[in-house]
Amino acid sequence: MKSNSLASNSLVSPRRIGDDTCGPLALGCWRLTNPDTSYTLRLLETALEEGMTLIDTADVYGLDFGGSGFGGNEEILGLAFAEAPSLREKFLVATKGGIAPPVPYDSSRKYLTQACEESLRRLQVDVIDLYQIHRPDFYAHPCDLAETLEGLREAGKIRHIGISNFTPNQHDALSTCLSEPLATTQPEFSAAVLTPMRDGTLDRCMAQGVTPLAWSPLAGGRLATGEGVRPELIEVLDRLADREGTDRIAVALAFVLAHPSEPVAILGTTKPERLRTATAALQVSLDRNDCYDIIEASEGVPLP
Ligand SMILES: NC(=O)c1ccc[n+]([C@@H]2O[C@H](COP(=O)([O-])OP(=O)(O)OC[C@H]3O[C@@H](n4cnc5c(N)ncnc54)[C@H](OP(=O)(O)O)[C@@H]3O)[C@@H](O)[C@H]2O)c1
Repeated sequence: MKSNSLASNSLVSPRRIGDDTCGPLALGCWRLTNPDTSYTLRLLETALEEGMTLIDTADVYGLDFGGSGFGGNEEILGLAFAEAPSLREKFLVATKGGIAPPVPYDSSRKYLTQACEESLRRLQVDVIDLYQIHRPDFYAHPCDLAETLEGLREAGKIRHIGISNFTPNQHDALSTCLSEPLATTQPEFSAAVLTPMRDGTLDRCMAQGVTPLAWSPLAGGRLATGEGVRPELIEVLDRLADREGTDRIAVALAFVLAHPSEPVAILGTTKPERLRTATAALQVSLDRNDCYDIIEASEGVPLP
């Protein structure tokens, strides 16, 4: 191994979700507002063929991108599962609750218990494989939240517990009250947004065996279009893509996957063909120099 090589296999190795595993790339459903079930089925079948066995959605998805409103995107998935029940069994289905418009965040027991029931109904599943708190509710005591989540698990409504957009301290506060480590945490993480690498989020993951699920791994498409991203970052990604004989998307995703916390990158595309081409990321070989080049270009300053 070259001295600047990264740990082998971290790009392709299966990711742990509690005592389950999933592929390093996952299908995100925030933008999946197309109500045509045959389209959803095509997207799900493509994801499966490409080894993407985790689906991430949220009860609040449906309010953006021309969706039908709160719960709309869960309903779209539910219709697909109802039409192809065997497909549901092949995925880990992850959803989120705790954003309760017009209330920004509600992680009270009363609200979450009802929200979880409604997600189960819309998704047309018997159990949610991974239930995540979408954003922290500053007015929920972490031990009350832990009791609520463990109650849902004991009742057989959810299998694994995750969080999203929690600070490392909020993560610790909840973890301390839980009887076992969280399965996942979901921060925004991409070559353009390095916060979890620096604020302790990914360190917590490695210390506690928690799998990070990276949302917006292409910065919501900005790494594809180049809009609102430092030109020097695009140049470095393009240079590495040329060397690897691939495209910038693959290099940007490989950067996320190469972190030793072994993140899952949640892809947000709604196009089956883009799900297929994204798997080129698993063939990209980045070393330490490449990753630090990306970090310096992303931050716009040399590392000290
Ligand atoms: N926990 C949270 O608070 C939170 C917040 C945001 C997102 N998420 C999760 O993360 C998932 C991904 O987020 P995201 O949608 O922002 O992810 P992303 O993969 O960073 O961005 C996807 C966007 O990039 C566009 N895009 C343009 N060119 C592309 C190309 N060549 N390949 C792939 N995509 C291209 C896609 O358009 P096309 O559809 O036209 O391909 C889509 O609009 C969501 O679905 C959701 O599950 C979670």
